[in-house]
Amino acid sequence: MPSFPYDDRLPMHRTLPESGSGQAEVLDQLRMMATEEDAFWETGKCSGTMYCGDHSHYDFLTSAFGLFAHVNALQRDMCPSATKFEAEIIAMTLDLLHAGAVGDGTPAGLVTTGGTGSIAHAVLAYREHARAERGVDHPNLIKPETAHPAFDKACHLFGVELRRAPVDPVTTLVDLSWVADHIDDHTVALVGSACNYGYGTIDPIGELSALALDRGVGLHVDGCLGGFILPFGEELGYPVPVFDFRLPGVTSISADTHKYGYSLKGTSVLAFRDQALRNAQYFFVTDWSGGKYCSPGIEGSRSGGLLAATWASMVHLGRAGYRKYASEIFATAETMKDSVRSHPELRILGEPAFVFSFTSDVFDVYHVNDFMRRQGWRFNGQQYPNALHMAVTRPQTLPGVADAFAADLADAVAYASEHKDDAPQSGAIYGGVIGGMTDDADAFIKTVMADMMDGFQRIPSAG
Ligand SMILES: Cc1ncc(COP(=O)(O)O)c(C=O)c1O
Repeated sequence: MPSFPYDDRLPMHRTLPESGSGQAEVLDQLRMMATEEDAFWETGKCSGTMYCGDHSHYDFLTSAFGLFAHVNALQRDMCPSATKFEAEIIAMTLDLLHAGAVGDGTPAGLVTTGGTGSIAHAVLAYREHARAERGVDHPNLIKPETAHPAFDKACHLFGVELRRAPVDPVTTLVDLSWVADHIDDHTVALVGSACNYGYGTIDPIGELSALALDRGVGLHVDGCLGGFILPFGEELGYPVPVFDFRLPGVTSISADTHKYGYSLKGTSVLAFRDQALRNAQYFFVTDWSGGKYCSPGIEGSRSGGLLAATWASMVHLGRAGYRKYASEIFATAETMKDSVRSHPELRILGEPAFVFSFTSDVFDVYHVNDFMRRQGWRFNGQQYPNALHMAVTRPQTLPGVADAFAADLADAVAYASEHKDDAPQSGAIYGGVIGGMTDDADAFIKTVMADMMDGFQRIPSAG
């Protein structure tokens, strides 16, 4: 693979071209890249990322997006449709998360740019609400170690102290007594995941809810992954514990429409038990020379296209569509987990549902990854312990994919057993697996990661 993608096949633009290329030529170039890159996940061998994977659905969403992509959702006088889309996306999500059971507040929501966006807005809302209602000026938030790094990022951005609660190494679930011991007068909220990214396990949300109520703090449930699929897993009879607004201590839930909501990338819903919490982070500047300014969240201008596409995905699929996809995904996940369990050398962490991860006590599981990667599989790599992560999505439900997983895994286990005394080639990094990242020298690893991120937006120097 060339160091700078496509440099051997497409012109490299170091300056804005004086005269532009024809639309057909530009589209041909885009189509070439998209077709090649789609082929990577269309095999079904890629964990997560492509939640729907159905090109006819993507074409449908793209048509909906195209009708409103140029519209700024901030200017509602010009696009009343954005209010219909946003209000209905929120209403449908609140309904799915049983906000109808709320008797002690007025449920409300925000449409954000993704899971990180929803989590950031939640942390900001808790900080602002606790400052206004309880006079909290040194806020802290308690998350299970397994909760997504988006909480660490939000706390970093908004000056909130993050307390990371340990998890049980076998169940992977949060240590409730640690959480209880670390709540103090400055705690604005607790966090539980349904489910977490790493292990696909669901924290004891019922117990966290009781604790949050007892101590007078909020509880954010991170349903970025589970919010749009667990409710249907429950309907289908899978053992999904209640994690939503039916629990009286749950004060907000993030649920990503761009994951198992099967919309385009760039949207998520942040649902609140009561609008007072949402409104605490509303932003106003009333004395600006440019006019009176307000925004319901962090973003300014937003694309009407993403609201339209997300709305289109939800009203097109309906409950029956989501239930059907959930049924296929849950069933495929069971089959794939059975394949893992058939190897005594491998161990699934905790009791996950549709996202799972496995390790080995016999060899470094990255040997399995080394082999599977050569067969075209792409897992995310984990650490403490080393583990491979599989988020089952619709592409894995295609005929033959789970069988290929079983066959390749059997060969991979044989390979790993043979090579157990060698060093594996791959290691852990979120969002993919790259080589040589097993060194735990923090500063060195950060330098490597910064270099990698620099490379995402750098044209190689000429000559
Ligand atoms: C449980 C969970 N929370 C939050 C996020 C962050 O979502 P995003 O990448 O859309 O910002 C993810 C992403 O995979 C996730 O799995």
